[in-house]
Amino acid sequence: MLTKIWRVDPTAGNLEENAGIQEAATYIRDGELIAFPTETVYGLGANALSDNAVKKIYEAKGRPSDNPLIVHISDFQQAERVARSIPDAAEKLMKAFWPGPLTVIVPAADAVAKTVTAGLKTVGLRMPKHPVARALISAAGVPIAAPSANLSGKPSPTEASHVYEDMNGRIAGILDGGPAGVGVESTVVDTTQDLVTILRPGGVTREQLEAVLGKVASDPALKDKKAQPKAPGMKYRHYSPKAPVELVTGGLQELKQAVTRAKEKGLTVGVLTTTENANAFQNLADVISIAGTRADLATVAQGLFHALRRFDHYDLDIIFSETFPAEGIGEAIMNRLNKAAGTSRND
Ligand code: TXA
Ligand code: MG
Repeated sequence: MLTKIWRVDPTAGNLEENAGIQEAATYIRDGELIAFPTETVYGLGANALSDNAVKKIYEAKGRPSDNPLIVHISDFQQAERVARSIPDAAEKLMKAFWPGPLTVIVPAADAVAKTVTAGLKTVGLRMPKHPVARALISAAGVPIAAPSANLSGKPSPTEASHVYEDMNGRIAGILDGGPAGVGVESTVVDTTQDLVTILRPGGVTREQLEAVLGKVASDPALKDKKAQPKAPGMKYRHYSPKAPVELVTGGLQELKQAVTRAKEKGLTVGVLTTTENANAFQNLADVISIAGTRADLATVAQGLFHALRRFDHYDLDIIFSETFPAEGIGEAIMNRLNKAAGTSRND
């Protein structure tokens, strides 16, 4: 299959009329797959009301069939078509954080394709903020089911070129709207229980959720490696470059020691680091990948997946990574790094 690429300036006005977005929307209505930018990562979209269309997502990604998809909408009326009911807590969260990087798990309506929910009675709903995503959903006129647009297991794409690497020849087209903003995926929260529960930390922080709801709970599996995660996707190995990743706790000295020891063994070594620390590895590591600056963890979130993907352009034996405080956006960063390192469950 020929994969078309449309470059779209997200700051241009009247995006629904854009020829590329119009053509991409036609592909969605015809049951084909389109990758598109969101404010978190690039998504791989299909008509959420068509089982045949949604099946193609699982094939293109090599995604396990028990891992449900998030449904993306562009207005609040669409939420009522996709949800069987909207719990009070979900409504509060939608008002506070939509459009934006928050996915709420709610009871699913019958109209939703069974392949979207992977057989669950609930569905994840998200209204993205990115203007290209919103224009595509509106122009298509249907809710769009979309996981991140990477091959299953790889780091999520934050640029159209990452999508191209993984999906060229597998999908109808890519809307290239430049780099995604937040860099890590949406926060997934379950609103069907008494206490709202974070299933996956992401772009909306725990602190922001608690400012709206008071206390929120965490899926025990986020801390306890033996517990079964409530978000099926959280049990899989993910975000992993080809070479093994090891997280180094402590500070710069510990990271330098780890790299030095591996070099002494004759290994080819990559290091995932920050602008503050990169110089220390200049004559030490074989490949240095900078995620962002420790002074502003939002930049680390933005650059994290690109930094991880870069390692695959080299033949490395091992990658050592800095670690970050697991607060604010740092909670999502450390969750993704732990998965990349295979230090989470079932790896
Ligand atoms: O930022 C994002 O959320 C991106 C962009 C494209 O919107 N999408 C994304 O989708 O990250 P995906 O499929 O890569 O991750 C969705 C996660 C998976 O862990 C999945 O298991 C979980 O959400 N999930 C989806 N529906 C669920 C449900 N009904 N119950 C529990 N977990 C669910
Ligand atoms: Mg994903």
